[in-house]
Amino acid sequence: MRELSLNVLDIAQNSVSANASLIEIELSENTSDKELLISVSDNGKGMTPEQVENVRDPFFTTRTTRKVGMGIPLFRFAAEMTGGRLEIESEVGVGTRVRAYFKTDHLDFTPVGDMTSTMISLITMNLHIDFVYKRKLDDKQFTVDTRQLKEILGDVPLNEQSIAMWIQQYINENSKQLTEV
Ligand SMILES: Nc1ncnc2c1ncn2[C@@H]1O[C@H](COP(=O)(O)OP(=O)(O)OP(=O)(O)O)[C@@H](O)[C@H]1O
Ligand SMILES: [Mg+2]
Repeated sequence: MRELSLNVLDIAQNSVSANASLIEIELSENTSDKELLISVSDNGKGMTPEQVENVRDPFFTTRTTRKVGMGIPLFRFAAEMTGGRLEIESEVGVGTRVRAYFKTDHLDFTPVGDMTSTMISLITMNLHIDFVYKRKLDDKQFTVDTRQLKEILGDVPLNEQSIAMWIQQYINENSKQLTEV
């Protein structure tokens, strides 16, 4: 995959499929450690420990009937290529957290890319799901929480074009501010 934002979209789609009502996406970069953490957590149906193992390593799975998904293995590969790692915590009936750590100074580090588009797609295509998008760079951060947006907007849906454009601008401007010195 050309940019990590596409991996994030894929991982968050898993949370949507798992019937989550709340999905939290966090990108946290520490410039002195040269480390980026991408975390996607949900309150969906969760997985058993055996399922988690199969998902991490689809080629070593003993079950051949299951369609071999590639979303998580590709995300893991992108992280491990940089000397990082992927962790999955999951509990049936509680939810799942996928965390990928990247070494940003590694030659094989893939740029984060267009996270704004990933968030806008997720938010506007899943109106019944709440999203928290948090972005941190060292000691700076910003958060977008659709629960707060819905409270302000009342009955106006988040996929209404002017609203979607406003959210897009809000994320873009805050992302820009985060990287400005
Ligand atoms: N957040 C999650 N909650 C519950 N189950 C999950 C979650 N993420 C992944 N899974 C389980 O792990 C499987 C593998 O996920 P993965 O993204 O690797 O592949 P996929 O979604 O099946 O296929 P693909 O992403 O290639 O279309 C999923 O089919 C699902 O059963
Ligand atoms: Mg998937």
